[in-house]
Amino acid sequence: MKEKRILLVIGGGIAAYKCLDLVRRLREESASVRAVMTRAATQFITPLSVGALTNEKVLTDLFDLDDEHEIGHIRLSREADLLIVAPATADLLAKMAGGHADDLASTVLMATNKPVLAAPAMNPRMWLNPATQRNVAQLKADGIRFVGPNTGEMAERDEAGPGRLAEVPEIIAAARKVLAEGGTVMPLRRPLTGRHVLVTSGPTHEPIDPVRYLANRSSGKQGHAIARAAAQLGARVTLITGPVALPDPPGAHVVRIATAEEMLRGVQQSLPADVAVFAAAVADWRPAAVPSEKIKKGSAKPALELVENPDILTAIAKEPAQRPALVIGFAAETDDVIAHATAKRKAKGADWIVANDVSPQSGVFGGDDNTVHLVTRSGVEDWPAMSKDAVAERLMLRAAEHLRKTTAAAE
Ligand code: PMT
Repeated sequence: MKEKRILLVIGGGIAAYKCLDLVRRLREESASVRAVMTRAATQFITPLSVGALTNEKVLTDLFDLDDEHEIGHIRLSREADLLIVAPATADLLAKMAGGHADDLASTVLMATNKPVLAAPAMNPRMWLNPATQRNVAQLKADGIRFVGPNTGEMAERDEAGPGRLAEVPEIIAAARKVLAEGGTVMPLRRPLTGRHVLVTSGPTHEPIDPVRYLANRSSGKQGHAIARAAAQLGARVTLITGPVALPDPPGAHVVRIATAEEMLRGVQQSLPADVAVFAAAVADWRPAAVPSEKIKKGSAKPALELVENPDILTAIAKEPAQRPALVIGFAAETDDVIAHATAKRKAKGADWIVANDVSPQSGVFGGDDNTVHLVTRSGVEDWPAMSKDAVAERLMLRAAEHLRKTTAAAE
């Protein structure tokens, strides 16, 4: 954090007091901190105490002409390396998602061209409210990064659940990560405009009988992040997803399927596409026969006979008539990651393979982070550990660059 300039936007919630410690810790790490407080935030902590810790004048009012003259909200937002919103209240998130700019905090957040990290804190019911979840999905699609909220006891009696502000060290670690990833606010760049990107995501469910199925632990987080990033970069996106508990990426056309055979049909019906990304964890096998009645518990142990599912990636990569210009597969490996991924790229006919280690200790299945290796015809690139959102953004920017170069070469 050395010499990094942080603009801290303090929202009006009981957790605002933790911002005092956040400022202190950021300054200990040699970052400089300037603070903007919402009117509500000043009800919880005083600008005087924040100013004493930042050693800078604390700004609260959009219409304070002196400050507008001295700094201006545009300059204020642009001079920072990173904006941190803490506590990001339900109201502040709603304003950000809706593009409101009726006070200094929301105006600065609208005007910035720098990465924004939001640390939400609110009552669990407010956090779980569909309106808040919609706003969070929209903000993620807009490139806003999130840390927390954590789950636990609330300040109100007898209230517990998700909604606690992330701890100060967690916010600092997340800030460090966003700065290291060098993210910018994505809406400014839309290099996939005019392209169709097709993404598969999530697990497949292969029925054993009407109530049971074979599945795996994929949450869809990586695939959905890719669909979000592609839409954010201007693409028309079709997302073919297995059963997941995630909001639809804003702007994407979502096709919901359950089995591998349905996923194959969904993909085939969505062609042509410029880019196809196969992030789904497709079941390699399915039960050979599915009875129409529930299998009863009885004396005979049921034997599960399996047949192989179609390989969707191979079918599309080797599709003679409508092969997308760029076919990207994933490889989920537990050992010898790069060797297996390299062999998979060739066997399946993909242009690129994103290899990830899915052994249980990696936490990749279901987790928020990933460490990937990009395997192409010309070699292997090791990417640092980053969030699935950052993997998605980087992958889609690479895809855009690849399409730009191949289109230019063909002209
Ligand atoms: O969903 P998350 O919890 O965020 O986790 C992300 C992830 C681990 C699922 C994701 O990053 C990932 O690795 N996806 C691919 C999972 C997988 O099935 O890998 P594989 O090595 O078994 O398959 C290789 C490739 O073939 C994949 O692109 C897969 O989508 C594709 N495939 C596999 C089998 C099949 N029948 N059809 C396919 O298209």
